[in-house]
Amino acid sequence: MDKLEYREWINSKLNIGKEILYLTMDECINSGVTVEEVIDYTELALIAHGKKELDMPAKIGLHPYKDTFMHAMPCYIPSVNSMGIKWGGCWPTNRERYGLTQLSGLYVLNDPESGWPLAIMDCIWLTAQRTPAVTAVAAKYMAFPEKVETFGMIGCGAQGYQHIRYMPKTLPNLKKIYIYDLFEPAMDRVVNELQASTAAQIVKCKSIEELVKSSEVFATATVITSKPEPKIKDEWVSKGQTILMCDCHSLFEDKTMKRADKYYVDSIDQHTLLTEYGYYPDGLPEIVAETGEVVAGLAKGRDNDEQLIVDNNVGLAAEDVPVAKAIFDKALERGMGRKLPL
Ligand SMILES: NC(=O)c1ccc[n+]([C@@H]2O[C@H](COP(=O)([O-])OP(=O)(O)OC[C@H]3O[C@@H](n4cnc5c(N)ncnc54)[C@H](O)[C@@H]3O)[C@@H](O)[C@H]2O)c1
Repeated sequence: MDKLEYREWINSKLNIGKEILYLTMDECINSGVTVEEVIDYTELALIAHGKKELDMPAKIGLHPYKDTFMHAMPCYIPSVNSMGIKWGGCWPTNRERYGLTQLSGLYVLNDPESGWPLAIMDCIWLTAQRTPAVTAVAAKYMAFPEKVETFGMIGCGAQGYQHIRYMPKTLPNLKKIYIYDLFEPAMDRVVNELQASTAAQIVKCKSIEELVKSSEVFATATVITSKPEPKIKDEWVSKGQTILMCDCHSLFEDKTMKRADKYYVDSIDQHTLLTEYGYYPDGLPEIVAETGEVVAGLAKGRDNDEQLIVDNNVGLAAEDVPVAKAIFDKALERGMGRKLPL
């Protein structure tokens, strides 16, 4: 379908300019978007970002309290024919204080032809899909995926749980998945709900140290703190490992980051802005390239088995918009959601 045919298709189901589709989190979950589709869309988004074939300013934000943020994340990707904005927040103490997830927010999808809004939807679910998809795509380039037999996940909340579904798709020979979380029920949930769907054995670790020392590739999704509160001793990290973070440097000693043979970020602009906000008080290591440049083939990932590779992906608006479009398209096709007048 070309752009105008696509717009006509939408208009046959939703009167653009007069109404929008509202989708709850359950409707997003039940839209039918698959893990494989999210990985494909995420790869497209990273390629567009690597080639700079998109319109995506660094996300601006509000920071009402220490270690909280509310980010505005707009993006237009011509190759995906999609445009929208996420207004998403992260309040790390929400679980203890209110019984709510630390992440919250909404996604507004717009018609690239007219600018008018097409949909408003929950963004928690789509974030918890595209975030592990980024880690899974990154693992293809930052590790030698066919060789990897052990993956570790630190933090088994919304993002960590989904990583267990996504990682075996790009690390096809995993034998063991090590997990660790301070909150025991989060680990139990992963084992109870996901063990049956993966060939790799899921192993609950007793400590971060055990996980770090056991895993060739490991990812972190815990809590972003503006000043790192290291929980991972530098001596536990070995040459040859691949570290893929979703929560900045929060868990690491600065010297681990600085001694990486190759250090990548998803967006130099984004991480520079974070530095201005006070994150990375010890400064960023030398950045080899952006993740998207590696995925697009413009820069190289891992060269040999000996390198310690770190890839710091804090999340890009580019990763949200294709998944939001996929949810919208499927929901519209299936007659899901509620139409609201404008
Ligand atoms: N990079 C991205 O694109 C991206 C996207 C979404 C969220 N995030 C970040 O990922 C992190 C996790 O988000 P979430 O939605 O999964 O939150 P969550 O609250 O659902 O899960 C976090 C989990 O980490 C555990 N945890 C906290 N500190 C820990 C520690 N020191 N050791 C082990 N476990 C620990 C908690 O018990 C919890 O189960 C947050 O920092 C969030 O800001 C990043």
